[in-house]
Amino acid sequence: MSALIAPSILSADFANLERDLGAISTADYAHVDVMDNHFVPNLTLGLPVFERLAQVSPVPLDAHLMIADPDRWAPAYAEAGAASVTFHAEAATAPVRLARELRRSGARAGLALRPATSVEPFLDLLGEFDMLLVMSVEPGFGGQSFIEGTLPKIRRIRDAVSEAGLDVWVQVDGGISRATIERAAEAGANVFVAGSAVYGAESIPEEIAALRALADQHTH
Ligand code: DX5
Ligand code: ZN
Repeated sequence: MSALIAPSILSADFANLERDLGAISTADYAHVDVMDNHFVPNLTLGLPVFERLAQVSPVPLDAHLMIADPDRWAPAYAEAGAASVTFHAEAATAPVRLARELRRSGARAGLALRPATSVEPFLDLLGEFDMLLVMSVEPGFGGQSFIEGTLPKIRRIRDAVSEAGLDVWVQVDGGISRATIERAAEAGANVFVAGSAVYGAESIPEEIAALRALADQHTH
């Protein structure tokens, strides 16, 4: 399984989103952080902007919804053309019903866990999801430092997925750079979100290629 790189446009120039999506055309996904100022103390963009991004992006969109009441709002992101829609376990009322609804709308369904949220309640339900997102920083802002204590959770999810013979992706989001990506890959992540590391790089395509190569070397 080769590593997938999903730069987060949270670190892009919000006055030039189309240009900055074009800058990551060699990536596998564009990670779009939707924040509502309720679930997290920050506000980014919502459905009308997302719909336009889906129309102009050269790469498929990976929506990360840091919002309250995803049961109500998430399906519209699938209908807007998101390749993948990830909602938070802490915010969803009926995560399995919602995941099934997202899949019916043609999107991959992802479940996100904050750093202090345990995966244990979901281990028997992994097959209901296409991806688990392990937050390796507290959600809300880019540029924070990687929380090493989230690595055992990545490992636990990867082991459970392998044991069950499932094809569930494990995404890691927060503080990913050349300095941390190897440990996340070693632990079992296969989808890597990187915001500040990619958009802050001198050469964006070179940074994407370097991250992918490092992750590939450390993927089992
Ligand atoms: C944080 C977001 C992340 C963020 C990552 O709440 O979910 O996607 O953009 O940014 P970096 O890579 O800078 O930690
Ligand atoms: Zn994110």
